[in-house]
Amino acid sequence: MACLKDSLVLIFVFFVAPNMTSRVDGESQVPCYFIFGDSLSDAGNNNALLTLAKANYPPYGVDFYFGPTGRFTNGLTMVDIIALLVGLNQPIPPFANIATDIEEGVNYASGGAGIRDETGSYFGDHISLTEQLANHRDIISRLTRIIGDEAATQTYLNKCLYTVDMGSNDYIFNYFLPESGTRKLFTPDQFAAQLINQYSQQIRSLYDAGARKIALFGVGRLGCIPFVLASNGITQEIITRAVQLFNGRLVSLVDELNKDLANSKFIYINLTSIQSGFKVLKAGCCPVNNNGLCIPYSMPCPNRDEYTILDCIHPTQATNHVIAATSYNASHPSDAYPFDISHLVQQY
Ligand SMILES: *[C@@H]1O[C@H](CO)[C@@H](O)[C@H](O)[C@H]1NC(C)=O
Ligand SMILES: *[C@@H]1O[C@H](CO)[C@@H](O)[C@H](O)[C@H]1NC(C)=O
Repeated sequence: MACLKDSLVLIFVFFVAPNMTSRVDGESQVPCYFIFGDSLSDAGNNNALLTLAKANYPPYGVDFYFGPTGRFTNGLTMVDIIALLVGLNQPIPPFANIATDIEEGVNYASGGAGIRDETGSYFGDHISLTEQLANHRDIISRLTRIIGDEAATQTYLNKCLYTVDMGSNDYIFNYFLPESGTRKLFTPDQFAAQLINQYSQQIRSLYDAGARKIALFGVGRLGCIPFVLASNGITQEIITRAVQLFNGRLVSLVDELNKDLANSKFIYINLTSIQSGFKVLKAGCCPVNNNGLCIPYSMPCPNRDEYTILDCIHPTQATNHVIAATSYNASHPSDAYPFDISHLVQQY
């Protein structure tokens, strides 16, 4: 026992203590952060695409220092705020805009994207998770040229934080579309199993590309989507029940990945558990079009910090603050499983 304790003390001195010193100096807890996802994480990757899933017009960005940037919220997204919480200096730049500045990470997320490649086609172009992972491999090649050594690049990539938010669009803009092909093929349980099976392979390929600290966001409450809810007797309750099947399997996937993949940590962020606690829970803050997005140049509500959602689907910046803060430092065990991002970034 004493022997084990002594070696733990040694490990602490040699590996943990230097990190703590650097944190006191105001350095970040990770050198880099790579972001995969949909409109909850997108920071402008869709701006140049031919798609209806865009947010580069007001009232999106009304509370952002650069105005509308393609973020599907009035200010910062949840991943922008997570970047700041782990001590990085600024939000991670979108893949579409990067020039050479890739050492702190890249944001590959694309509004409308899903686990399935065809998800989001309803809107037009999008960057599916499969393509986001291909873009990441491209960035790794560039990073290897900058660092100059493949092994050192892998060591660097091992230390980064990775978050993936996926699945919402596979439901609302695929399975529950009025003429959905997948709904004809699969029961909700079969669909959840298919999605998780494909997601598992995608996340394992991210691990193969060097990722070791990975947070997976579950699917949150899916808000009103006028044209989805108007058709085929689809109700919010039916959608919620289908999504629960996905989230349940995602938690099991996290357990499986933690067991199977050496030297890695995977966590689940529970978006259905995290509550904004704001005055207005369900009503949006802007008038919306048929796809659930704010009507361009419409007037948003003045008291945006009291609203949970901005349009029909996307959280306000105020809610994104709550989501990010809770993902980073969970106030309740059900918010993050098996632990939160502050613990994820600690483990080397
Ligand atoms: C998490 O929150 C608790 C309670 O507010 C606080 O005491 C603790 O220092 C926080 N931890 C981190 C890592 O920020
Ligand atoms: C996620 O949150 C919901 C609502 O609080 C809860 O019912 C569910 O058990 C949570 N999931 C996990 C894995 O903790």
